Amino acid sequence: MEIRTDSYDHRHVATLDDHDDVHHEMRAKCPVAHSENHGGFWTLTRHEDVDLATRDTTRFSSLPTVTLPAVGAPKPFIPVECDPPEHQKYRTLLNMVFRPRRIEEFEGRIREHVVHLVDTFAANGRADLAKDFVFPLTARVITWFLGIPDEDVARFSEWSLGLVTVGDPEEELRLQTEIRDYYLGLIARRRERPADDLASHLLASTIDGRPVTEEETLDIYLTLTGAGGETTAATGNHLFRLLDLHRDLRERLLAEPELIPSAIEEILRYVTPVYGFRRTTTCEVEVAGTRIPQGEAVWLSWLSANHDESEFPEPGRIIPDRKPNRHLAFGAGVHRCPGAPLARLQLRVMLEEILTRLPDYQLADPDAVSIVPAVTRVITSLPIVFTAPPRSNR
Ligand code: HEM
Repeated sequence: MEIRTDSYDHRHVATLDDHDDVHHEMRAKCPVAHSENHGGFWTLTRHEDVDLATRDTTRFSSLPTVTLPAVGAPKPFIPVECDPPEHQKYRTLLNMVFRPRRIEEFEGRIREHVVHLVDTFAANGRADLAKDFVFPLTARVITWFLGIPDEDVARFSEWSLGLVTVGDPEEELRLQTEIRDYYLGLIARRRERPADDLASHLLASTIDGRPVTEEETLDIYLTLTGAGGETTAATGNHLFRLLDLHRDLRERLLAEPELIPSAIEEILRYVTPVYGFRRTTTCEVEVAGTRIPQGEAVWLSWLSANHDESEFPEPGRIIPDRKPNRHLAFGAGVHRCPGAPLARLQLRVMLEEILTRLPDYQLADPDAVSIVPAVTRVITSLPIVFTAPPRSNR
């Protein structure tokens, strides 16, 4: 295949099931490629180069943005669009929130809600697994995490599903403004009357000896809303789609459920839902013999890195017990995803329940499922049919 890297578009490639035809060729012949799209940018494709650049915050900055094209937010997202040393201050705050004990405590609630959601459609023998199951679950978990009161959950779920599925920029702006205003109200109420939740915890914390401001709290809420829900939902939807396309894999997980955690890691590698992020060079850098000038946009293709045959033998096969599996689906270095344990927990519980209760589900129309490029490789709808199971008595 003749490769035309000057017209390479990471967003288009992310919609393809056979994306690796493009990336394989780039890794072999042009591992550091320049494209004219999106105002001009470079792409790193080999695992070794992408891994090093992801960790190198001195030469590859997360400012002014990590999105390409930029999502157009009025200011950088905290902490993902901060560099050290400022990044460390916010990250220390967040690490407290993601303490392993706090995450483990979610398992019971997640399981209960997963069972409840399956109950709502199980008797029908058909459902939209994305709209009836994966999106509602991941949105609900974020509401617990952010301390959204029960009476506001329905509104919040509509916003988050709206933000993932909306096609119209004006509508998107409207939804974002509504969420922002809602958070501002919540944060103001917690300032007045603290509760045992995230906003109160942040407002009671300090950075450099001064209290965290309401504006910083809002920024963290906005980051967590985007970073936590859409990513986990995208992974869940791909997971259930792939278990339809790869029946042997489903059979193996049904026979050996102890493989579920490592299978989830492998699906994360194979899919790479957050398929890359942008960095900007702070000086001239040389990568694999190519010079990239200062101030250039560089796309770190975690999707390509996760299919690099020099790191992952047979990268196009889903091997549930692959070892080692140094995938970059959660990034690497100081920005490595703090939400990974929470995402893994949701994915494991969803998968366990679906395998137990709907073991024979099938996609109603596999050809109708498509991947939409946002910050993640989104699947918005996943209609399935299955043999209706007995109602759960848990
Ligand atoms: C399968 C689901 C998820 C995937 C694939 C994912 C992926 C990523 C990746 C690749 C990064 C690194 C960004 C960078 O290097 O610039 C990241 C950062 C981040 N993620 Fe996740 N994420 C997931 C779930 C979550 C969840 C559930 C939360 C929170 C509830 C979360 C919160 C964050 C935050 C706050 C950051 C920024 C960390 C920093 O800059 O220090 N993520 N995520």
